Amino acid sequence: MMSSTLQDFIHQAKVRSSGQCEPADCVLALAPLVLDLINQADDFLTPEHYRCDAAGYTRNLIYCAPDQSLSLYAIVWLPGQWTPVHDHGSWGVVGVLEGVLEERSYVRLSADRGADEGIDLTRGGAVLLARGSVTSFVPNPDHIHVTGVPDDRPRAVSLHLYGRTMSDFNLYDVPGRTRRRIQVAHNES
Ligand SMILES: [Fe+2]
Repeated sequence: MMSSTLQDFIHQAKVRSSGQCEPADCVLALAPLVLDLINQADDFLTPEHYRCDAAGYTRNLIYCAPDQSLSLYAIVWLPGQWTPVHDHGSWGVVGVLEGVLEERSYVRLSADRGADEGIDLTRGGAVLLARGSVTSFVPNPDHIHVTGVPDDRPRAVSLHLYGRTMSDFNLYDVPGRTRRRIQVAHNES
C-alpha cells in the first residue's frame, strides 16, 4: 500500500511533467517537489529502500509509472562506491537524504553526432551535495558524470526521479573514446 505522501508526490510529479514539453522546464517544475519530499521521506521509505551491497551502490526502486514516463529510486552509496562514467538519456532530479553525495562532471569536447565512437571527454568540476540538496540534469547534450562517495566519507542515500524507467543508460570509456548502452537491474520492493 503506497503512503499518501508518495501518492501525492507521484500525482504532482505527473501533473507537472506531463504539461512540460521541454526537459529543462520539467526539472524546474519538479525540483521543488523533490526538495519537499526529502523531509517527508520517513513517511514512505521502508527498510527495503535502504538495501545496500558491498559489491556496489544499490538502486532500490520506489515507484515506476505503468506508462514508463517516470521512475523514482532510493540509491544507497557505501563509502568508496561510484558509478562508471555515464549519462541517462533523460531528465533527472536528485535529492540527498543522508550523507554527502559527490558528482564529478565530464565535458564533451567533440561534436555530438549521436555516434558511439570518437567521443572526446575532459573532466569538469565536482559538486558536493549534502542532505537537503537537490540537483538536476537534462539530456541533449547529455549530462555525463560519475556519482558516488569517496572512501573517507560515510554512506549517502539519495532520491532519484527520472523522466522514464531507468533500465538502461550509456557507459563511457573515456580513454577509448567510446560509449555503449547497458541494461541495469534494480531492487524492486
Ligand atoms: Fe547519473
